[in-house]
Amino acid sequence: MSFFRTKILGTGMCYPQRVFSNDDFAKIIDTSDEWITERTGIKRRRFASLEGGEFPSDLAKGATEEALQNANLKPNDIDLIIFATITPDYRLPSCATILQTKLGITNQCAAVDIVAACSGFIYGVTMAHSMIQTGLIKRALVVGAEMLSREINLEDRASCILFGDGCGVAIIGRNEDANDPSEILTTKIGADGTGREFFQQEYGGSANPFTPEVLQTSARFMAMQGKEMFRVAVRTLTDISTSALEAANLKISDIHWFVPHQANIRIIEATGNRLGVPAEKVIININEYANTSAATVPTAFHGAVKAGQIKRGDLVLMSAFGAGLTAGSLVVRY
Ligand code: UT7
Repeated sequence: MSFFRTKILGTGMCYPQRVFSNDDFAKIIDTSDEWITERTGIKRRRFASLEGGEFPSDLAKGATEEALQNANLKPNDIDLIIFATITPDYRLPSCATILQTKLGITNQCAAVDIVAACSGFIYGVTMAHSMIQTGLIKRALVVGAEMLSREINLEDRASCILFGDGCGVAIIGRNEDANDPSEILTTKIGADGTGREFFQQEYGGSANPFTPEVLQTSARFMAMQGKEMFRVAVRTLTDISTSALEAANLKISDIHWFVPHQANIRIIEATGNRLGVPAEKVIININEYANTSAATVPTAFHGAVKAGQIKRGDLVLMSAFGAGLTAGSLVVRY
């Protein structure tokens, strides 16, 4: 069987226009900029327009156009779209197929949404990587996009301040140039379904469809047990990162950059400390954009590439953890 090396060809990101600061939250709920900053590291987040034009597939279009330009590719060069989201534009059809049309892709490429919450981008890259490795496809667009502002419960002040909207993408493809060191080295993905109650949204599916009564209450929104999630997050992120590094036969000191899921600055710092990553190697964007679930890792990665921090040839560890409970880790030479 053929076996191809894979690499990140290009990345992009896109956020809604509207900035919603901690002070804006303090005007509508009992909170303060001081509490949110100290307990989470978040200063502001973006909230998408309800008028349209900034739904997940719209943000994905903007981010993909940037990635295509960076990779010097055309929309029809994409063979597969994997769209990771827990907040799709519609129940049906998938965001991936909507994005295919919005991008003007006419090659009838495969298109699918995946639900792996905050680990969705890493799950998507893992799937793309293995399909490219085996020769099934040549190039995949992996999207992490969310509109979490629709699903936050303003009656739960500990969690509503955590989330934001945004999108990050990566185009993954073959690397057939033996002189090009860029490569996805290892990926690890996993889940522990027993932690389901730590972060869930109970209504709106087949088991508990929305009813007029439910729609009048906050039961319709996402519900998180913050302390439990916090504890499991640090342990799981550390374990899965260590296992991805071991599979790549690398030590943490070999890594140039750590791009963790952006859930809480204290989770990022605790995980970095446990892994032994110096603070200056940790990429952070939670202060500006909060927790955008599947979009945190690709936006943090892309932002650091754009800022000239992450350069071609650098070794990068990316790790995420989220509802499910899902987790994933990638080791790449960018
Ligand atoms: O992406 C998926 C992964 N996400 C996560 O893993 C999130 C993990 N969890 C967390 O980030 C944190 O647990 C939170 C930020 C959600 C909460 O932080 P905490 O340090 O665990 O706070 P707490 O819930 O224990 O609340 C401490 C105090 C309470 O007051 P009392 O009971 O001590 O008087 C809360 O009522 O802070 C109060 N509080 C607030 N005060 C002002 C909670 N939320 C707020 C708020 N503003 N927004």
